[in-house]
Amino acid sequence: MITENQIHSLIEGLFSKIQFTDEPKGLYDPLRYMISLGGKQLRPRLCLTTYSLFQDEFDEQILQPAAGLEVFHNFTLIHDDIMDKSQVRRGKPTVWTKWGEDGAILSGDVMCIDSYRRIAMAPAKVLQQVLGLFSTTAAQVCEGQQLDMDFEQLPEVPMTRYIQMIGLKTGVLIACAAKMGALIAGATEDECDNLYDYGYALGLAFQVADDYLDAFGDSKVFGKPIGGDIVNNKKCWLTTRALEKADDLLREEILDAMDMPVDDEQQRAAKIARMKGFYTALHVDEDAKYEIIRLTEEAMGFAAQSFSGVRLMTLRRFADRLVGRTK
Ligand code: IPE
Ligand code: IPE
Ligand code: MG
Ligand code: MG
Ligand code: MG
Repeated sequence: MITENQIHSLIEGLFSKIQFTDEPKGLYDPLRYMISLGGKQLRPRLCLTTYSLFQDEFDEQILQPAAGLEVFHNFTLIHDDIMDKSQVRRGKPTVWTKWGEDGAILSGDVMCIDSYRRIAMAPAKVLQQVLGLFSTTAAQVCEGQQLDMDFEQLPEVPMTRYIQMIGLKTGVLIACAAKMGALIAGATEDECDNLYDYGYALGLAFQVADDYLDAFGDSKVFGKPIGGDIVNNKKCWLTTRALEKADDLLREEILDAMDMPVDDEQQRAAKIARMKGFYTALHVDEDAKYEIIRLTEEAMGFAAQSFSGVRLMTLRRFADRLVGRTK
């Protein structure tokens, strides 16, 4: 079996051989900028990991689709940063703050197209399935992003709706990455389905962790400013859980705090401090950590339906690395 170290080096070199188009610079520079900032590259890593459960060698027919998943993810981040008015990602200015919103929209579009070109390099035998999976996933991510924005306008949403929203905006792409590696490797339908469910549950855990770190992370490590979700009135896991736990009196206080103005730095800091005060008083920060572990174990339950021994251990290690993440 291919080792995790080998996968690590493959991921490191994934984009070094890929030449993106040069001109016009305004279109392709943001793409190169975003890719060069790196990030965790979780999705191609997962895709190569599930592939490695079945195959001993990598070729372009898996490496290009894996790269395509990362290009697609980067495209969603560029558009997400416009929608969330985020100025910093991966410790650096976001694409729209450097090139303007119009440039960021179009560069994002061309990245989405580039990702399809790479996904389409999957082996002919599974190409139709791979493209079907990817297209469904891509549309679902848009649906999730729309719900995320719709929820900003609502005072609160039930936890089930929150889970549905993060399943779409984040869960399905990670699930797709896990399944795509297996599909290209020639796995059975059952193996593919269990890996999809494994990835989906891991994706939920991953987004709960993102929400937790958005309030309680270290911005230098996390690469994003702390409190953006609070400022934007995002129905993140912490707020959703806090409203679920609070008694009537506290609920009103939380809803009032969500109406606090955010026009300048001082107002934003005051709102962030107030909301974080509710989170800690209600211990929803601790609940989030528990929920991340619970979802990760759920993921392992799906993995165990198809795998055992070394292969299950590989999936376990992949999951465990995400649980304690700080970035
Ligand atoms: C950020 O994704 C958006 C979410 C789905 C939470 P990542 O946390 O994978 O971002 P990078 O690619 O490592 O920067
Ligand atoms: C982003 O969720 C999910 C997608 C980009 C599809 P967030 O808005 O929480 O991601 P960050 O925190 O900006 O990375
Ligand atoms: Mg967002
Ligand atoms: Mg965002
Ligand atoms: Mg976030």
